[in-house]
Amino acid sequence: MSKLSDRLGRPIRNLRLSVTDRCNLRCQYCMPEAEYRWLPKDDLLSFEEIARIVDQFTKVGVDRVRITGGEPLLRRQLSVLIQALAERAELRDIAMTTNAVLLEKHAQELKDAGLHRVTVSLDTLDPETFQMLARRDDLERVHEGLRAAREVGFENTKIDAVAIRGVNDGEFAELIGYGKSVGAEVRFIEYMDVGGATRWRMDRVVSRARILEILSAKFGSIRELPRHDAAPADRFELKDGTTFGIISSVTQPFCATCDRARLTADGMWFTCLYAETGTDLKQLVRSGASDEALHEKLIEVWAARRDRGAEVRAGMKDRAPLAELANLRANPHLEMHTRGG
Ligand code: GTP
Ligand code: 5AD
Ligand code: SF4
Repeated sequence: MSKLSDRLGRPIRNLRLSVTDRCNLRCQYCMPEAEYRWLPKDDLLSFEEIARIVDQFTKVGVDRVRITGGEPLLRRQLSVLIQALAERAELRDIAMTTNAVLLEKHAQELKDAGLHRVTVSLDTLDPETFQMLARRDDLERVHEGLRAAREVGFENTKIDAVAIRGVNDGEFAELIGYGKSVGAEVRFIEYMDVGGATRWRMDRVVSRARILEILSAKFGSIRELPRHDAAPADRFELKDGTTFGIISSVTQPFCATCDRARLTADGMWFTCLYAETGTDLKQLVRSGASDEALHEKLIEVWAARRDRGAEVRAGMKDRAPLAELANLRANPHLEMHTRGG
């Protein structure tokens, strides 16, 4: 295995593969606008192109892949890609982030194809809040999706809830209880000022400290668990043994251990969630570049990487969303739903 590391000594291990920029929900923290400009269909990488790029990433150190979007289950025949990834022995973890609206329909075939784990985005258990936040009436389908995930045998399922003041900060305890009832660990994510989050304001962020305060008022003392990897979540345990996580990208960024890379559905490679520019791997692949040339490109870009986007933003005064609407319209690659939530 290569010892590739970036300018801050960080290896590359985690590849987030966005397979579509489209989504069937319209969460306020990610896709608040009425209209979007989608990536042109012809630009989307085929599964063969994705697999070829993944093979080059595994050669430089990637051993975990997360399928994401937009909503990945909107990509037709996704399990064909999963199966191809599952055949690659170098990948010891193949996960998917989904809103679960279509999960009931696909859970069995995803499991059969070799998907290891699912993480479900679910921010509220209240149907009205769900409708207000996601602007679709699909909460029941999410419940069905989570049930199906368990039934077909997925383990280590997680529920990701973006914590937003005045929206869901009254239901953190219920979310933990719900997670327990469906066999999933809940993780609260601080609302981030990423591209696309045009309604973000610092005073809407519920900090890690505040989340812990709210939960300890309800459950009593909370123990922080020791961590043993570069995952963004800190994990905690309630007195009854229930565990949950907090991803504190805003108030306590974890860039120092960030081993993540993101590939958009049209083959742009970003080395940071907050990066303004990326590397066009589609162009390389479609212009007939050899595997060696691709390999060299990955090494060149990662070796030069200095990103610490969330840390830089944490030091900003008058923090505001990463990109203004006009910039997002001009450059959809800045959108979180394009570069992979
Ligand atoms: P596992 O722990 O392996 O399940 O994966 P993970 O912790 O990477 O979780 P997941 O991919 O579901 O990410 C959860 C959320 O954390 C994302 O939806 C983002 O909101 C946030 N996040 C993930 N990766 C990054 C990152 O590289 N930088 C920052 N700042 N936030 C991230
Ligand atoms: N802040 C935090 N997380 C976000 N996501 C998307 N937008 C944001 C944001 N502004 C992440 C959430 C969600 C996933 C699809 O993307 O984790 O569950
Ligand atoms: Fe990694 Fe950038 Fe996220 Fe920091 S902000 S954790 S460097 S992707």
